[in-house]
Formats: sequence, structure tokens, C-alpha cells
Amino acid sequence: MKKITRETEIVHGVHEDHVTSLDLVPPIHMTSTFRFRDAEHGADLFSGRESGYIYTRIGNPTVDLFEKKIALLEGGEAAAAAASGMAAVAAAAMTPAVPGDNFIACSTVYGGTFALFNTDLARFEIEVRFIPSRISGERAEIESRIDGRTRFLYIETPANPTLDIIDIALWADLARRRGIPLIVDNTFASPYLQRPFSLGGDLVIHSATKYLGGHGDLIGGVVVGSAEMIERIQSSYMKHFGPAMSPFNAWLILRGVKTLALRMTRHSDSALQIAEGLLHHPRVTAVHYPGLPSHPGHSLARKQMKKFGGMIAFEVHGGVAAGKAVMNAVKLCTLAVSLGDCETLIQHPASMTHAVYTPEERKRAGIPDGLIRISVGLEHPDDIMGDLRQALDRIPGV
Ligand SMILES: Cc1ncc(COP(=O)(O)O)c(C=O)c1O
Repeated sequence: MKKITRETEIVHGVHEDHVTSLDLVPPIHMTSTFRFRDAEHGADLFSGRESGYIYTRIGNPTVDLFEKKIALLEGGEAAAAAASGMAAVAAAAMTPAVPGDNFIACSTVYGGTFALFNTDLARFEIEVRFIPSRISGERAEIESRIDGRTRFLYIETPANPTLDIIDIALWADLARRRGIPLIVDNTFASPYLQRPFSLGGDLVIHSATKYLGGHGDLIGGVVVGSAEMIERIQSSYMKHFGPAMSPFNAWLILRGVKTLALRMTRHSDSALQIAEGLLHHPRVTAVHYPGLPSHPGHSLARKQMKKFGGMIAFEVHGGVAAGKAVMNAVKLCTLAVSLGDCETLIQHPASMTHAVYTPEERKRAGIPDGLIRISVGLEHPDDIMGDLRQALDRIPGV
């Protein structure tokens, strides 16, 4: 048979080969532990002389299937499932580093990631050196912060919440020259729209809570990379810190991910239409959407993404107060954090997802206090735009 398309791969992907019942949909292996045939079998599994399942924190058939599927979709050799996106970020960041080491990260990242890097890793004496995304394309700026104790580079693109586009190939080249890995959080794009490995990335992270799951009904995360890097993460961080993914969540994501191509196409097409609609609204002062030719990262996004995704950020006349008024006036859009769901979600990063940044840190990271972020859902785009328009129309004129 000729090579299948990405769209078909997303639906079919990896087949369950643990069972002989021939289910179309794999069963959920909802068990904490696994029986040993006899004492020797148990000892052989523990010593690694034989492979098999021991205990769900260490491995589970449903979770394995999820890992294989996401590795396939990203084009990586292996994957490690985690209980949340944050567990995946922590596993990827903490595995290669020891006290005294440092790493370079773009400063526009999810607020939880920023707090982990800025506060928690500092307690382990692992230092983050932030690069503001406005200079993230300047090779010399990044290079000047790298030294002999730099263990990895870290980016998120499109970046949360500003939708800045970071040059994966440029950061990958810098990492390769120094012999260190580049970690890319691919949550906003999903593997359907962007494949960081094809641009030189070494580890890819997802909050599977978002587009992979796609239905807002679970929390999950995953790290994808070479078999060797994933084995290091599995055998140390995942096993000993213990943020294992529930088999039920793995099953839900396997179900949700089958429609990834359809959903990402719809999210992206609707977001482009809504971004254009916002651009023409008299109360809107700025629209940040990589699909707009006016976006500074538009041509880069064209190169590294298939479409531009479902996330939009925008600013309105009247700053924070007017932005809050818009969020209180929407009727169809839901005022909530998170993203990638069927429902359109709207939120205010400075007081919500990115409240952990100080005002000064937000300024340095280029996150305006008046910014509003929308995760465009799967409703009809005319209805979403209609709701935003009626909310924006209530802002007093200037
Ligand atoms: C880009 C990005 N990475 C990681 C995370 C953390 O994921 P989780 O909430 O599943 O822990 C988020 C959450 O919003 C995110 O937006």
C-alpha cells in the first residue's frame, strides 16, 4: 500500500497489539498492578531480563499506546506520558540538569512554566536565563547567554499568550552547535500544524489537556524525543517523582486525537476569520494572530506551520478596564482559562494565566496588561465573531 497521509495516520496511527479480542477501539487497562506468573517472572521483570508490565506508575498498556501514538504523530522515536503538561515540562527540564547548571528559555511562556523556571528550579540551583521574545531571533543575543554549564535551550511557539513566533530552526542550530538539546513546547500548534523535529528540535512537549485531548475533559502531558532521552526521563523523573498519566486519561486522549486534523483545520480557519474581524473593529487597537500578514512572525509561521492555529490575542481601547468589560459582556464565549477545547474560551493573561509574572517581568516578556486571549472553538465563526462584536460595541467610544 502506498504511504498513508498524515490525516489518515492521525485516525489510525498505532494499533493495539496487546489483546486478541480484536476491538476496533482499544480497551482501558484500568489496573494499578499486574500479576506475575511466578516469583521468577516477577524478579525477571524487575531486573529487566524480561520485559512486561509491573505497576502502572512505571508502565501500562493504554498509556503505552498513547505514548506510541504521539511519538508517531510528532515523528519522534519514543514518548513519556505525564499527569499534566506541567509534569511534562518539569520532567524535560529537570532530567538533564544538576545544581549549578543553567538553561536558556524564551521569556514568553505559559505562566506555570515561567514560575517553575523562575522559582522552583532556582531552589534546586538550576538557573534560567530568559531571552525576551522580541530578541529571540537574534543569534548573538542567545549565544551570549550560553556557557559551559548550559544544559538545554527552551522555547514555546506560538508563544503563550502573545502568539509570538519563535524560529525553531535557528534555536535548534544554536543548540546543535553546542551539543545540547532544544526543547520545544508544541502545545499551541499541535503535531498536525507543526513538527519541531523536522526543524531540528530534540524534545517536544505538549499539554495534552489542550488540542491533543481536544474536549476539555482531562489533564495530561507528554514529552517526545529520542529513545535514549525518553528512557532517561522514564527511568528517573517519571518513576521516582511519580507524575504518571491515568490509563483513563490516556484512553480519552487517544479518542480525542483521532479528530485532530479536522479540529485544527476548523480552529485555524475560524481563528483567521475572527482575527480579521477583530482587526476591523473600531475598539480594537491590536490583534496578535500569526495568520495575519501584519503579524511580525507571519512569514516564519508560514515556513514552520501548516496553518496558524486557533489562538488569538488582542488589545482594546481603554486597556485593562475595557478588556475586563469585554470579558464580562460575552455570552457565547466562556470566560475560562485553558485552550484547545470545542468551546471558545476567553481570558485575561495579566490577571489569570500570567499573573505569576510581576508587572515588570510581563513588560520585559512583552505581555501587555490589556491583552485578552481567545481560544477559538468549534462553533460557527460568525457566531463567535457576533458575540465578540456585541461585547466590543459596549466599550465607550474614543
Ligand atoms: C503552552 C503550555 N504549556 C504547558 C501548559 C501546562 O499544561 P497543564 O495545564 O496540562 O499542566 C500550558 C497550560 O496552559 C500551556 O498553555
